[in-house]
Amino acid sequence: MLEFWREQGVSEALLRGVEEYRRRYPWQGGRGLARPRYPYYGREVLEAAAAAMLAGENLLLAGPKATGKNVLAETLAAAFGRPDWNVSFHINMDAASLLGTDTFRDGAVVFRPGPVYACASAGGFGILDEINMARNEALAVLHSLLDFRRILDVPGQGRLQLHPAARFVATMNHGYAGTRELNEALASRFVVLQMPPLDGEGLEKLLGAEFPRLSGKGRALFAGLFLDLRQKYENAEISGKAVDLRGLLDALRLAELGLPVRRALDMGITNKCFDEEERNLVADSISLRISPHMMGEALFAR
Ligand SMILES: Nc1ncnc2c1ncn2[C@@H]1O[C@H](COP(=O)(O)OP(=O)(O)OP(=O)(O)O)[C@@H](O)[C@H]1O
Ligand SMILES: [Mg+2]
Repeated sequence: MLEFWREQGVSEALLRGVEEYRRRYPWQGGRGLARPRYPYYGREVLEAAAAAMLAGENLLLAGPKATGKNVLAETLAAAFGRPDWNVSFHINMDAASLLGTDTFRDGAVVFRPGPVYACASAGGFGILDEINMARNEALAVLHSLLDFRRILDVPGQGRLQLHPAARFVATMNHGYAGTRELNEALASRFVVLQMPPLDGEGLEKLLGAEFPRLSGKGRALFAGLFLDLRQKYENAEISGKAVDLRGLLDALRLAELGLPVRRALDMGITNKCFDEEERNLVADSISLRISPHMMGEALFAR
């Protein structure tokens, strides 16, 4: 992981800092280390995020969908050599589902730790996913954990002091229906990164890494297509629904299996626009680059 960071040009001082952290806190627990499914591309973001972790800050990753927020959070845990605990926040989240609950086992009451408690005591990387989706009352239990006090007060369990290796990385998406603002008390406990979308070069690298058989021409074609859609979104011609990198990757997986490229893109991208007029705009944009008969074979090497 750190080798890949070095290739991307992450500063030696930061790399040394991460190595030193790893020496200070070698993981010896039973839980496996974080294993991100994709590498994260973007030197500046990696540097900023690594610095935040080294400083012991809590980090909030804010940005539109599919900008690699979760990939980055897992990448950080892996680079720092710690296991991750992922907590998906939702509207019905309560304090007990974060901290833990008392349950019965063999006739006795035992405490079953929740993910935040387990992470805080083991010194893991807690990924607080879509943190703005929860109600403020549920989030209030995190206040003392995320400020200088670094403690969790658990009813019946007493006080847990945060393990010095533990870090918290939250993600937040603005723009989805149902997302809310993060309240100020919580926001002030984080340093914040606004996640930039990948540029053309980054997109081509990602496509190449994800689809080793995709030709150079194919990489350029799909990166260009995606940038077209993003441009249309920025010009307010279409909504953000079609600007979905995850959907593009899904479509490529279908095309690689043999589906005509246009139909694969319909499923991954175009059909996510439920408004017919918008769907037509997206389809028009795609048809400028991709003929109705193009098959995956033309772009993927055997
Ligand atoms: N800078 C990047 N580096 C690597 N992968 C990226 C990057 N930006 C986007 N991706 C890709 O986007 C896809 C989605 O990534 P991820 O799930 O981390 O996004 P997210 O920001 O958490 O999205 P959401 O807000 O929808 O949850 C993955 O396939 C990932 O590889
Ligand atoms: Mg996410």
